[in-house]
Amino acid sequence: MRIIALANQKGGCGKTTCATNLAAALAMRDNRVLLIDNDPQGHATLAFGFRERDFSLSTYDLYLTSDILVEDAFLEVSRGLHLVPAGIELSAVEQELAGEKDRERRLRNNLRRSAMPYDYVLIDCPPSVGLLTFNALLASGEVIIPVDPSYYSLQAVRKMRETLAVLREHSGHDVLPHVLMSDFDTRPLFVRQLMAELDEEFGRELLDTIVHHTVRFKEAAGAGRPVIGHDPESRGAMDFRALARELAGQEVELGIPAVDRWDVLLHGPRVVTGGVLFEADFPAAKRVAVTGDFCAWSTTGLPLERRPDGVWECRLELGSGQHQYRYIVDGVWLPDPNNSRTVPNEFGGANSVVVVA
Ligand SMILES: Nc1ncnc2c1ncn2[C@@H]1O[C@H](COP(=O)(O)OP(=O)(O)OP(=O)(O)O)[C@@H](O)[C@H]1O
Ligand SMILES: [Mg+2]
Repeated sequence: MRIIALANQKGGCGKTTCATNLAAALAMRDNRVLLIDNDPQGHATLAFGFRERDFSLSTYDLYLTSDILVEDAFLEVSRGLHLVPAGIELSAVEQELAGEKDRERRLRNNLRRSAMPYDYVLIDCPPSVGLLTFNALLASGEVIIPVDPSYYSLQAVRKMRETLAVLREHSGHDVLPHVLMSDFDTRPLFVRQLMAELDEEFGRELLDTIVHHTVRFKEAAGAGRPVIGHDPESRGAMDFRALARELAGQEVELGIPAVDRWDVLLHGPRVVTGGVLFEADFPAAKRVAVTGDFCAWSTTGLPLERRPDGVWECRLELGSGQHQYRYIVDGVWLPDPNNSRTVPNEFGGANSVVVVA
């Protein structure tokens, strides 16, 4: 699974156009795709023809209601394409989470608890670098930064890269940037000069695909569907099919640790050589242990060790069959937030399950 934010603090540079059309293009390539509308303007929601009356749960709930997961909140746009919608209530998140310790990781933590059976997750951000954008970046392994042909936009991309550097420094989280030329009419001389500058400054980060300027995008937005569905033969539809192809082609060469880690962390314990590897992401914890039927539900549990990347791990030799377990995090017993396989226990809660063949 690849999680990709669409972000740029400059307004109107094509974030939502890219998020919705790329989501549709990826789904057409038989990928399972989730688009999270992470902008209180709700433009991605509108772009798929949904109005606020069409949904009761939204991205707001992923931030603020701990038992609402993606699987409770998504709307089905088409086969293989899901949308978590957003509306104006999302603008209250910043204020409601003021002073909360983990406020920048709310979205990431929610995605980790959700089932997430997706190949791609796209997160459409608002035109600012506030709490919502930070949450999206901390949840993502990659970010597409659309840049429209203006020098303000170039400045905004530089700012965005500074933001990524701050994120790396403060939280150790690396996000791979892709710069996308969006809404480009490539004929005027100044646009060509700008393209040369982008190439020189961003090199490999600059995507080969160019999303050309075409009125079809505005028409499609008015019709409440992405241009790929509105006019599949148009230039815009071709551009987004090319972008989906380019991103898919990168998969082989991308060795992004953030993406690999996500994949591991979203699937609970894994059978590896020498036993079963338990990995748990509790960055603020002082002690993490695992307990279960394999240690007669010991109240101290078997300790996990903290790795340099902040993830806790331990390897246990377990016999074949089904095992039930829970984590003990600073004394609190929890089911595994990254494992959707659970069974009810006698205390009215849930035990996580791992099966060894
Ligand atoms: N390639 C394009 N050709 C023509 N019009 C475009 C193109 N890309 C975007 N637009 C138009 O530009 C406007 C802004 O695009 P969009 O909403 O995607 O930007 P945004 O970055 O998401 O804006 P915001 O910052 O407000 O979220 C829209 O009206 C959209 O239809
Ligand atoms: Mg937008």
